[in-house]
Amino acid sequence: MNKFTYQYPVRQHFGKGCAESAIKEEMKQVGKNVLLAYGGGSLKRTGLYETLMEWLHECGKNVVDFGGILPNPTYDKVQEGAQLVRKYGIDFILAVGGGSVIDCCKIVSAQARLDEDIWDMQYTRHQFPTEFVPMGAVVTASGTGAEQNNGAVITHTAKKLKQPLVGAYHSFAILDSDLTKTLPMKQVVSGAFDTLSHCMETYMGRPHGDNLSDEINEAVMRNVIKNLRALIANPDDDFARGELMWDSALAENSLLKLGKQTDFQCHMLEHAVGAYTDCNHGQGLAVIHPTFYRHLLSEGKEKLARMAERVWNVKGDTTDQTAALGIDALESFIREIGLPTRWSEMGITDETVLCAAADTCLLMPGCCKQFTRDELFEVLKEKL
Ligand code: NZQ
Ligand code: ZN
Repeated sequence: MNKFTYQYPVRQHFGKGCAESAIKEEMKQVGKNVLLAYGGGSLKRTGLYETLMEWLHECGKNVVDFGGILPNPTYDKVQEGAQLVRKYGIDFILAVGGGSVIDCCKIVSAQARLDEDIWDMQYTRHQFPTEFVPMGAVVTASGTGAEQNNGAVITHTAKKLKQPLVGAYHSFAILDSDLTKTLPMKQVVSGAFDTLSHCMETYMGRPHGDNLSDEINEAVMRNVIKNLRALIANPDDDFARGELMWDSALAENSLLKLGKQTDFQCHMLEHAVGAYTDCNHGQGLAVIHPTFYRHLLSEGKEKLARMAERVWNVKGDTTDQTAALGIDALESFIREIGLPTRWSEMGITDETVLCAAADTCLLMPGCCKQFTRDELFEVLKEKL
């Protein structure tokens, strides 16, 4: 493996039913003025909002509401949150939701301490924030692992870009699978596929020889596949729900990435399409992955074949055959769990949108080969 230094800043509270005691324990240690950040409506519908307000008042907090953070959070919403933090002298941000709420808060936390615009800072001046409003995450939709890292994906509507920004780490993450029980199964599946995608994009990165990070990764991938099947068969399977939640955390808490260069080109492609269509992240990845890997067959066959054997349990007579069988198995799994395999299934039928996405997609160095803009467009177009 490559050299690394590892220190992990996020305290994890994991387990069915852990939320009440963990949230109270954490919130007793933070400042008085709390920004409660949440999404478009599920928090109030499920009753969790009222419960959280009770717990926060019990801990003596003044709570300022920051709701309405929709999927694929926007730069404008970040600015709204940063203004609230400044206006009310917020000491702590509590993000309650899925990747969208959690990501938005990472950047609110940084923007609130900056005089300059965070987008320009990172994309024009290539500098990164160093001061943050402290925050913590309560995960109600697992899959992105966004509570585990300091990267956030923000849509700049005016610029038609959905791109990563560096923000703050959450000081703690509450991973109580009970809080995800109200999540529609469609979103559970899309989140779990996102986890699998994070694993695959990491696995395909260099070095390609035997290494511990990849071996752990194979175990996580097998675990996602097994437990997603179990949860679809029985949505009351709390064990499977908890396993998927921890898979999601592991895929993004750096552990699988230690000593590795990662290859997140499928993600960059999906984000670019998302900027134009506001599409669901996990669904977009499901469309992209098999085709992307077919374009990687000749340069990436060794690694694809290893994944085929160790994760999908399929083997052909040659390395090429095994690699191809593995991609077929991935595609069948995508169909089996009810995710789309074509853009049209997601209502995306306009080739010019895919062309614009390829034009604005961040190109990655690539771990088996570097894709050109034209080849990325081919990958997108094939599944119209
Ligand atoms: O907005 P509300 O009404 O709360 O509804 C949400 C939303 O519609 C709903 N939901 C969440 N918890 C619920 C619930 N509904 C019922 N019961 C609950 N307990 O779920 C819907 C989707 O939520 P969202 O947060 O958008 O989903 P997800 O967790 O998949 O996050 C997607 C975002 O994360 C980014 C994606 O690009 C996308 O913007 N990502 C962030 C990453 C990171 N920071 O590490 C990594 C990922 O690769 C990803 O790019
Ligand atoms: Zn993802």
